[in-house]
Amino acid sequence: MIVLGSKPGQHDACFALIRDGEPLFVYEVERFNRVKRATSTDLSVLFEGLAEYSISPANVDLVTNCMHPGELEKRKSLISEYITPDKVDDIHRFLDWHLPSWYLLLRKAGFPTRRIVNIRHHLCHVSGVYYSSPSDEAAILSVDGGGEAETSMLAHGRNGRISILRTTPHPHSLGHLYQGVTIWLGWGYGEEGKTMALAAYGDPQRYRRQLDSFIQIDEQGQFCYLPALQRGPFRFASTEIGRIILPQLVGPGRRDGEEISQTHKDVAATVQAICEEIMLKQARFLKRETKAKTLLLAGGVGLNSLTNGILAAESGFDQVVAYPQASDAGTALGGALYAYHNIGAPDRPRRWHMTHAYWGQNIDLENLDTAGKSYQVSGRQSEDVAADAAETLATGQVIGWVQGRSEIGPRALGNRSILANPLVPGIKDKVNGVKRREWWRPFAPSVLREDVNTYFEFDGDLPYMTAVARIREEWREPLSSIGHVDGTARVQTVTEETNPLFYRLIQEFKSRTGLGLVLNTSLNGRGEPLVQTCEQALRLYVNSDLDAIVIGDHLFADKTNALVGQTLVPYVWNIRKLPRTRLLVVPGELPVSMRELLLHIVQDNPRARVDVSGDSALAESLSADGREWIVSVPTLEPGDLASAYDAVAFYVPFPGDKCVFEEDVYFSPRAVLSRRIMEEAGIPVYWIDSRGDVNFMRDSLYVHHDEVPPLAIASSYQRFWVPKV
Ligand SMILES: [Fe+2]
Repeated sequence: MIVLGSKPGQHDACFALIRDGEPLFVYEVERFNRVKRATSTDLSVLFEGLAEYSISPANVDLVTNCMHPGELEKRKSLISEYITPDKVDDIHRFLDWHLPSWYLLLRKAGFPTRRIVNIRHHLCHVSGVYYSSPSDEAAILSVDGGGEAETSMLAHGRNGRISILRTTPHPHSLGHLYQGVTIWLGWGYGEEGKTMALAAYGDPQRYRRQLDSFIQIDEQGQFCYLPALQRGPFRFASTEIGRIILPQLVGPGRRDGEEISQTHKDVAATVQAICEEIMLKQARFLKRETKAKTLLLAGGVGLNSLTNGILAAESGFDQVVAYPQASDAGTALGGALYAYHNIGAPDRPRRWHMTHAYWGQNIDLENLDTAGKSYQVSGRQSEDVAADAAETLATGQVIGWVQGRSEIGPRALGNRSILANPLVPGIKDKVNGVKRREWWRPFAPSVLREDVNTYFEFDGDLPYMTAVARIREEWREPLSSIGHVDGTARVQTVTEETNPLFYRLIQEFKSRTGLGLVLNTSLNGRGEPLVQTCEQALRLYVNSDLDAIVIGDHLFADKTNALVGQTLVPYVWNIRKLPRTRLLVVPGELPVSMRELLLHIVQDNPRARVDVSGDSALAESLSADGREWIVSVPTLEPGDLASAYDAVAFYVPFPGDKCVFEEDVYFSPRAVLSRRIMEEAGIPVYWIDSRGDVNFMRDSLYVHHDEVPPLAIASSYQRFWVPKV
């Protein structure tokens, strides 16, 4: 039985495919389109995975969607209590639009609608961590920004079944509060880790009274925003908490580039303390109710490693395990596992549990040679990469380490990692230089499982780097590069069973230095997702201060003649989805910051032309020597276009999910024109979105124009669209 789990649209888009209860792949869209926590519902990612396993949509028995329409109806009745009526309609429209769009998209891709099942969002989170756990009985806690009508779920798993004990209703959301503080601190969505790191430098009491006037917590860990603040013209989403509510409570938020003050640190510490209090009380409630020995954590807040460390130490459970892909991307695999165990094969006993997080795409070693040539670096084949890498590390060098399938979730766990020797003086600054990130954020250690108790006040498995442990007093100073200012470290324990090569690397390192752990941080450029391919890995190597990089069995340690300067820009990556034929690019409202995009498109495709009709400023701002690719097309009449162009690309000032899921985008004049061009001129249309992703519009536009037969598939897309069977 084959089940596809989907987390479509919005942030953390992801596809997971399982066969007979075991994952085949879990592909996060961000790794493919290079836009962190990607919003795009790009089916090419799904079809790439299906092609790798020679599976066509017709072979898939069930498709899960991580949202339930019945629960959305509850959300609608809930929101009317805290949102002013004029905003209620907007939200209804969005909710009504979202699911049908996704079904139609799946149907167009060849998945029969009758096989699509909807699963409650938090049940997907809970199922992901429960059905991948070896424990048959466990208490389960899922906390995030919000699912359909709830923002947390407390559940009990036993004998392969999940019973829900309690939930927290919208809008009361710990995830949104934490995100709100992160936004108030001047950071963006998905940067909660910065807030958590900053918290260690602040006083958790200084702003507690102010925060207590907004959020109330009871002894069971149930919490709510206080009624006095509950009715407004907004949804109490994180942006509104960060930009409207917190400035009223604690003062103006941090502006972009502003120095971090003690107030910023104190507010971070306060929200971290609130998070810990709520989670600990909820965990203790679960312990009393279930008497289980194991606590499983999921949902975005489940990535808060400081809180998880406290739960491990103080909640009363023998074991606390946080899911590696706790964020919403994890609802793809979670939904698939739920459907398999509850709908597809409810009587079959559970045979699989997760022992590692390497479910992403394999490194494309077949392209290593070409990538090396394009960056003018050559590696040498090593007879023992683990030993060679350990030797390089021991001498104080910082290396990239790329092996096999990539990790799911945000943490590098030894397949897409930057590694360093923690004992080398100044190593933290050096790795910070490579990563170009803030000095106050800690790095993490990967330690041999049998050595964890030597360095940390902890003795157990922490395979996913999702919880902190206290560093032993005598190791605080020597291991300061992998510890935080509060004396903790976010530990990954490594065993021979789960990652034999990485395990041996640390063993080899230990035999040279006496230390059974290495500094491990994610292999990615600033603001990028984890590296996915050889080309990206080598690009990062030549453009950063990495001393060496190991990819498969090749060690690259000399970049004297390397071609530098091509840093990764997502739109440059994504424009390769555009066909290299006679392409007309219509920039529309392209912001100045993205004008470089046009230059990249014409560099990539000499047959591309950029339409500057009606925008003389744009024409002026493009370089003089590019005149032949600057054209003026006074009317975009489909009949005229067809003779001169093979494809058209529009810039749209929205992220990819809005292209797929929002009525305003679909029925904008641009959508109408796009559809006409496809129908009347018979040429494909692409939308380049505001985050640099490229969306093939056949996918989106035709789901709402069902009566029109689909056009021929663009050749650049075909290898994804038609699976190899
Ligand atoms: Fe979630």
